[in-house]
Amino acid sequence: MIELVNISYEIDNKKILDNINIKFDSNFTVITGPNGSGKSTLAKIIMGIIKPTSGKVLYNGEDITNYSIDKRARSGISFSFQQPVKFKGLTVFDLIKLSSNDELDFNSSCDILSKVGLCAREYINREIDDSLSGGELKRIEIASIFVRNSNVTIFDEPEAGIDLWSFKNLISIFKELREKNNSKTIIISHQERIISIADKVIILENGKVKDDKDYLLNELNLKKCPKLGGDVNE
Ligand SMILES: Nc1ncnc2c1ncn2[C@@H]1O[C@H](COP(=O)(O)OP(=O)(O)OP(=O)(O)O)[C@@H](O)[C@H]1O
Ligand SMILES: [Mg+2]
Repeated sequence: MIELVNISYEIDNKKILDNINIKFDSNFTVITGPNGSGKSTLAKIIMGIIKPTSGKVLYNGEDITNYSIDKRARSGISFSFQQPVKFKGLTVFDLIKLSSNDELDFNSSCDILSKVGLCAREYINREIDDSLSGGELKRIEIASIFVRNSNVTIFDEPEAGIDLWSFKNLISIFKELREKNNSKTIIISHQERIISIADKVIILENGKVKDDKDYLLNELNLKKCPKLGGDVNE
C-alpha cells in the first residue's frame, strides 16, 4: 500500500501540493479535481519522477521517497502517463510481451488488445511510433500496463483521447483491475463513469485534499454515484 505523509511540493516559490496525507488502502482509488489542482504532480511524486519538497512516500511501510523510478518499478509500481510514451522500433506485440515478462504468447496478446477495443489483427504488428493516433497509443499503453500485474498501478487520465465506443471496454478493464485483490489501482480521472466505480474518491483542489463530497456532487452533478452517497446501484 502507498501512503503519502505530509507531502508538499513547491516550484518557483509556488506551492503546488500543500501537506497532503493520503492512504491508498482501497483496491481502486480515483483522484479527481480541477485542472491544475496538482493531480499529475502527485502521481509523479508517487512514481519518483519528481521529489517532494517535504514529506514522505511510504510503500508497505517502507520509506521510498528517495528511491529511483527504476527501483520503484522493480518493486511493483507502474505508471501510465497522461501523454503516452512512444517506443520507436518496438511493435505492439513486443511491448505487450515485454510488459508481461514474456509470459504472453501472440494469441493472448491479441486478446488483451481486444479488451482495450483495438482490432488485434490490425494493430499487433504495428510499430509504436507517430503513425498511431493519440487514442490508439493510450489504449496500447493501458493494455501493456494491464498485463504487467503490478502491485500498484497509477493511471493519469486514461480516458484522455478515448472515444465513447472504446470507453466502454475501458470501464470493463478497470472493473477487472478493481477485483484484483493483490493489487491497488490509483486513477486520476475527470470521468464520471470511472469515478462511479471507485472504492474511494479523493478530491484535490489548489494542492490540497478537499474532504467534501457535496462539492463533487455539485461540481460534477454525480447524483447517481453510490460511493458518494448517491442512490443508484452501480
Ligand atoms: N515544473 C513546473 N513549473 C511550474 N509550474 C508547474 C510545474 N509543474 C507543475 N506546475 C503547475 O502546478 C500545477 C499543478 O499541475 P498538475 O499537472 O499537477 O495539475 P493537474 O491537476 O494534473 O491538472 P490537469 O487536470 O489539467 O491534468 C499547475 O498549475 C501547473 O502549471
Ligand atoms: Mg494532470
